[in-house]
Amino acid sequence: MEVVASRDGFRKAMSAERAAGARLGLVPTMGALHEGHMSLLRAAVSGCDVVVATIFVNPLQFSSREDLARYPSNLERDLEMAQAAGVKLVFAPSLGEMYPRGEPETRVEPGPLGERLEGASRPGHFAGVATVVTKLLSLSGGCRAFFGEKDFQQLAIVRNLVEDLDLDAEIVGCPTVREPDGLACSSRNQRLAPDDRPAATVVFKALDAARASVAAGERRSTEVERTMAAVVAAEPRARLDYAVVVDPVTFESPVLLAGELRLLIATDIGPVRLIDNLGVET
Ligand code: PAF
Repeated sequence: MEVVASRDGFRKAMSAERAAGARLGLVPTMGALHEGHMSLLRAAVSGCDVVVATIFVNPLQFSSREDLARYPSNLERDLEMAQAAGVKLVFAPSLGEMYPRGEPETRVEPGPLGERLEGASRPGHFAGVATVVTKLLSLSGGCRAFFGEKDFQQLAIVRNLVEDLDLDAEIVGCPTVREPDGLACSSRNQRLAPDDRPAATVVFKALDAARASVAAGERRSTEVERTMAAVVAAEPRARLDYAVVVDPVTFESPVLLAGELRLLIATDIGPVRLIDNLGVET
């Protein structure tokens, strides 16, 4: 496995693979790899000839509420995991390499979807994501790029930007990987205090209760949202930000549920913000 730190080296390595006829799979990450990332890497390995992972903790997507410095990082371990998954190339640039002029003046604005839900609670977050993903896809120069459904709003924003900006990438969404008790795999889980870890299961429990209510025939979205909020309210260590049911493409909340929908939830467990989601169908 080769590790490159320069944008030029990355671009050239991608071009060389493409010239050799390889179908390229890209898995963008911020490191701190876990089973969720491993499933993205495995999906990329099974669907592409050459798999490339990027590891870059992007400061543009952190808002003041979050402590960028506390984001977990262990490059050596990440590289071992990437190699074990079958990755051929890792692009791991420094901050100065990725943003040589400092904070970029040009940003990719994801529009109204970027301002709702996660975007409302974390102003500027999705512009930061959209900017770095645009740079990574543009440096890659044509690939299939794999993103987890765990960050469902991010996935929708990435799909939009690829279409709106005519980027040469096919976006592949991959299912969320969960711990045995339902907690969605996330780098943030490492920051849960031991006493908070059991409480974190409330996020999936709320989604599951809402799914059960839809399966039992509930069609009023307010009731489904109330069900999720009530489950979270019963956990003293949890503070709910939002629990909503939305159309999976427009992210509009319907009055009455029909067809495919997405349950989305964001909750603080102690100092750690957890998000999760689940698809439901009527
Ligand atoms: O999902 C992530 O890990 C990040 O938001 C991404 C897509 C790598 C951009 O920094």
